Amino acid sequence: MKDMYILGIESSCDETSVSIVKNGTEEIATIISSQIDIHKDYGGVVPEIASRHHVKNITIVLEECLQKANMTMNDIDAIAITYGPGLIGSLLIGLEAAKTLSFIYNKPLIPVHHIAGHIYANSLVKELEFPLLAVVVSGGHTELIEMKKHYSFNKLGGTLDDAVGECYDKVARVIGLEYPGGPKLDQLSNEGEDTYKLPIPLNDNSYNFSFSGLKSAVINLAHNEEQRKNELRQADLAKSFQNVIVKSITSKVRKAILERNIKHIIVAGGVAANKALRKGMEDLANELKADLSIPPIKYCTDNAAMIAAAGYYAYLDKRIGDLNLNSKSQDILQ
Ligand code: KG4
Ligand code: ZN
Repeated sequence: MKDMYILGIESSCDETSVSIVKNGTEEIATIISSQIDIHKDYGGVVPEIASRHHVKNITIVLEECLQKANMTMNDIDAIAITYGPGLIGSLLIGLEAAKTLSFIYNKPLIPVHHIAGHIYANSLVKELEFPLLAVVVSGGHTELIEMKKHYSFNKLGGTLDDAVGECYDKVARVIGLEYPGGPKLDQLSNEGEDTYKLPIPLNDNSYNFSFSGLKSAVINLAHNEEQRKNELRQADLAKSFQNVIVKSITSKVRKAILERNIKHIIVAGGVAANKALRKGMEDLANELKADLSIPPIKYCTDNAAMIAAAGYYAYLDKRIGDLNLNSKSQDILQ
């Protein structure tokens, strides 16, 4: 098969990104325009503001990406687009751009589920081996997905309430850290000790997670300390919280590796950037002799390279869309 260059577009939340990837594995050029500084003032992403910035940025980011790759649209073989899940207004901007390009340049349009993108970020680093377990940990998702071959997804379990990144961001806010608090809480935990006793959530025999009880436990603890006029040891709380999260995730991953004969574990999504989780997964993979890939930080958070990479495998699986394609704020990965 001749080389295939896929142009990916991602705009599901607050990053406008365009990337060109060769054969699903080789990143040619990626541009990411982040709105973090804009949403920081509000303590979280404001959907309407995010959409407006996508409108402003999308054509600029597209042009910059083509320029960086030293390519034109004529060199592109197909267009991969995040159709969902995500913020509907944000998704629609990327989708309209992708449809327009597909129509004008007569290129196939490939719909990509955002989580498939996070999973396939790993194929930019290492070839996937099956049976594989994808540990998807992001601001919107916490899921264990089993894959027996390319582009075949079987959800073993997931969060029953908050996503792990969401829990990080909310707890970070209680500790007084700026949005997005996840990375800041991760950093602060290095200066602390595990001295606060917090419950390990859903410590059961399922593949599911639950983080809202843990979040409430931290909020209550902070309020109680405040009422008693005790100083809240922020770094210790960060460390204690982080240890519980890592224990909760690794215990369910351990169960999956043992029960499902997993050869390759990949960690995907923004929280894959977390240092303690990376270490916890490395220790577990060493102990159980499974291969482990965790993408470099630049591929962990939202980017279009992962969408273009997933798009290649979706294309091979004949998952081609047309101009009737619509965005979906919620959708199951299948
Ligand atoms: O995958 P992502 O970029 O967006 C979604 O699809 O949700 O993930 C963003 C999430 C945020 O909640 C952010 O706080 C969290 O990933 N995150 C981290 C770290 N870096 C990003 N959480 C904990 N530790 C980190 N180092
Ligand atoms: Zn994401």
